[in-house]
Amino acid sequence: MTTKINFNGEILDHLSISVFDHGFLFGDSVYEVVSTFKNQPCFLNKHLDRLYASAKAISLKVPRDKEWFQRELKNTLSAAGNDESYIRIIVTRGVGEVNIDPSSCEQPNIILMVMDVTEYPKSCYEKGIQVALVSIKRNPRDSLNPNIKTGNYLNNVLAKMEANKLGAQDAIMVNPWGYLTEGTTSNLFFVREGHIFTPSLECGILSGITREMVIQLAKENGFHIEEGKWPGEELFKAEEIFLTGTLKKVMPVSHLDGRLVGAGKPGPITQKLRRLYDDLISEKA
Ligand SMILES: Cc1ncc(COP(=O)(O)O)c(C=O)c1O
Repeated sequence: MTTKINFNGEILDHLSISVFDHGFLFGDSVYEVVSTFKNQPCFLNKHLDRLYASAKAISLKVPRDKEWFQRELKNTLSAAGNDESYIRIIVTRGVGEVNIDPSSCEQPNIILMVMDVTEYPKSCYEKGIQVALVSIKRNPRDSLNPNIKTGNYLNNVLAKMEANKLGAQDAIMVNPWGYLTEGTTSNLFFVREGHIFTPSLECGILSGITREMVIQLAKENGFHIEEGKWPGEELFKAEEIFLTGTLKKVMPVSHLDGRLVGAGKPGPITQKLRRLYDDLISEKA
């Protein structure tokens, strides 16, 4: 039950960060959330690739290489000594003047948070969760591209608040043109007539690592899976809906806007993919 914070290579119990860091002032940062299996990071290489890609997309030069992250994370995980950990890797623009121009920020800060993990309750996987199709739109790709994982999540925070008000556990957003995108911290899949569908990257989504794995597993196991563009209303015709994400893994959805999805319990394809994904995690570790 220990939290350890690695700040630019120094392992600490607590961290206070400067209010002049542009990560704090403007959400000018990138991040990754990584899960563990037997306290070893899952898919770390893929998360680091995405971290570098996100940083590049906002012209933020990460001052350390992959080996540095791997080594520091290993040390921080062993200093925390948890059974399983929640890992958050953050790279901020660093300290600068209090104006939006990042050119005064000389040195990015790297923070590795290692904490005890709070898993989703078993009941969520057994019963499914409730989601709402909210009015807040996912950012278009030519604004802050949803495929860049930045520390600026306010759009998703607003969507989550709207879902909470509607009595749902998560929100599904459409893009400004009304096409399905994703959840606030997860990717979206749905099933119709035995086929699996998921919004394509063109709709404006994060290219989720769990999404990528689930697509691969679905293909390897003979499912018909299609990435594409579907209007929000299509989701009401789904027989099954599930969300994917590092922490959620494969999470069944039982209700959409208070209406039952299929039989209102996890469907067979969702359950099958959930099992395949869990097996993959334990095999890879
Ligand atoms: C907006 C968004 N979409 C999708 C995901 C799922 O990505 P991953 O499977 O890599 O965790 C996340 C994860 O945090 C997210 O924030």
